[in-house]
Amino acid sequence: MQDLSLHILDISENSIAAGATKIKIKINEDIKGNKLVLEIEDNGKGLDKETEQKVLDPFYTTKKNGEVGLGIPMLAHSAKEAEGNLEIKSQPGKGTTITVQFVYDHIDRKPLGDIADTIIALITGKSRDIDIIYEHCRNGDGFQLDTRDIKEELQDVPINNPEVLNYLRETIKNGLKDLEKEGK
Ligand SMILES: Nc1ncnc2c1ncn2[C@@H]1O[C@H](COP(=O)(O)OP(=O)(O)OP(=O)(O)O)[C@@H](O)[C@H]1O
Ligand SMILES: [Mg+2]
Repeated sequence: MQDLSLHILDISENSIAAGATKIKIKINEDIKGNKLVLEIEDNGKGLDKETEQKVLDPFYTTKKNGEVGLGIPMLAHSAKEAEGNLEIKSQPGKGTTITVQFVYDHIDRKPLGDIADTIIALITGKSRDIDIIYEHCRNGDGFQLDTRDIKEELQDVPINNPEVLNYLRETIKNGLKDLEKEGK
């Protein structure tokens, strides 16, 4: 996977498979502290302690069609390449949080990639009604997009209406531009 936004999409697929109705994606670019932290939190069925250990091993999967189960190990590998780490915290029946840290300016740290595309893909691509809460911080400034608020504002208009999606994509892009402009 070339960039972190694709990893985020992949990890979110696990949450969807685990029956989550809510996925919170937090990106914290702490450039001053030279740290990048990703957090993906869901309210899916969770994992017990034993499985929590196993998922870090490549090839552990509960998928049944002969697939391998590389999503989490691949992200853990990307983190290690940038002197970081991946941590899983889960409570069976409550949900799972995956936290990944990277050294921000590490030469092998993958770029964030197109986060707007990832968030829009998550909003459109899912078969069930799942809420996405996306929070992006950069040196203490930040913005948030919460599909629960958007749905309330939209009333009867579906959130995957193409015009709504374009608007959301622009909102994210502008939010990111503003964060960069702060230039701190
Ligand atoms: N958020 C989650 N909630 C509950 N179980 C999870 C979660 N994330 C991962 N798992 C469990 O860990 C296993 C391994 O996840 P991983 O993403 O590494 O591989 P996979 O999803 O099985 O396959 P791949 O990602 O390669 O398509 C999953 O099959 C699932 O059983
Ligand atoms: Mg997976």
